[in-house]
Amino acid sequence: MSDIVERYDVPKQLFWLHGPRSGPAVEYEARTGLWNVYGYPELIEILGDPATFSSDTMRVTPKELLPSEDEFSLQGFITQIDPPEHGRLRKLVSSAFTRKVVADLEPRIAELTHELLDAARERGRFELVTDLAYPLPVIVIAELLGVPSSDRALFKEWADGLFERDAEISLKQSVEQSKAEFEATMKPWNEMSAYLAAHAAERRRHPRADLLSRLVEAKVDGERLPDDQVVNFAILLLLAGHITTTMLLGNTVLCLDAFPEQQDKVRADRSSIPAVIEESLRFMTPFALLGRSTTRETRLGDATIPADQMLVAWLSTANRDPRQFADPDLFDPGRDPNPHLGFGRGIHFCLGAPLARLEGRIALDILLDRFATLRTDPEEAVQFIPSPSLTGVRRLPLIQ
Ligand code: HEM
Repeated sequence: MSDIVERYDVPKQLFWLHGPRSGPAVEYEARTGLWNVYGYPELIEILGDPATFSSDTMRVTPKELLPSEDEFSLQGFITQIDPPEHGRLRKLVSSAFTRKVVADLEPRIAELTHELLDAARERGRFELVTDLAYPLPVIVIAELLGVPSSDRALFKEWADGLFERDAEISLKQSVEQSKAEFEATMKPWNEMSAYLAAHAAERRRHPRADLLSRLVEAKVDGERLPDDQVVNFAILLLLAGHITTTMLLGNTVLCLDAFPEQQDKVRADRSSIPAVIEESLRFMTPFALLGRSTTRETRLGDATIPADQMLVAWLSTANRDPRQFADPDLFDPGRDPNPHLGFGRGIHFCLGAPLARLEGRIALDILLDRFATLRTDPEEAVQFIPSPSLTGVRRLPLIQ
């Protein structure tokens, strides 16, 4: 058992936190109809070969489990798109996340962090997720996108509705189960679509210097993006831009609570903050898994996988593969290099990685300045998100 499991009540879904896993690196699960891929070299193979391992997972989902196209479309959802269209869409926003653009956000991120911590101090209690880890990234991405950050309670409601379900990941659920799950996610999805469509329409009339204006004005091969693609891209940015960064901030503080000797080290040498952030991404990988589908029969590890199969590529377990990382269940920011897969790998490598790293670095630096020790409150429970696809805390009460 790892130190994290001994100290906190970690749900069973986060099985990779419960210690070393045994078993093959690639495993077909008849119950769910999925190929689970757990190993590091196998994930490198998958993420490096989009022609064999397509990001379009809808193509292998049984049609009777899918909603009709009028009800739901993932058009423009860049994580689901393969080359060559993927490259064209990615180019549209990649210039918004260059190192220089992101570095210019540093003063604003620091200012926001101080404001949020001041507000928490006035309230006289400090719960890291509500008071800092959630609002900081959501305000930053809302400002970048150009939607009012004061609507963030709505964003949280939508994100919780979409992700915080204890659903099993399966291709073999019944149509009834699939419909029930779909309906549960449709409400937040539709509300978010309508909200972003209204803002996009306004930006078509009055463009500003923000990402949403860039999306509505952008041309791919001489043509404007259709409205549903603009809205879906904006949904992705709004969700991807904050949920995982919230988890990164919470997980990092949790790791420094569970491994106090590492907290002492980083206090003594702040230049090691980036290494602490990288190790947090490896040790508690926020985005635990990625979906892929095979376009042809292929060998992976010791397995032969037929064409048109759904794969679950477990970033969380690959990041603890002893073939790649010595002593993988130890939180050790001294790993150098640390080639974790927390932001994915290859053509879909996270566009927001420089932003997430910057937010992590600034927030941790300021927390270390303002808290003589970062310690969880033994009187109050730490709560994890009980989802198999996300690794993160929902509540992390700290001693002031
Ligand atoms: C893609 C993780 C923060 C925007 C990805 C992927 C991962 C990931 C694993 C790869 C998806 C795939 O291969 O299918 C994370 C983590 C974050 C984070 C762990 C924080 C700690 C952000 C932020 C933004 C963002 C702050 C935007 C502001 C995106 C986008 C993609 C992506 C647009 C799709 C890229 C593509 O398909 O080409 N992210 N992300 N992410 N991420 Fe992030």
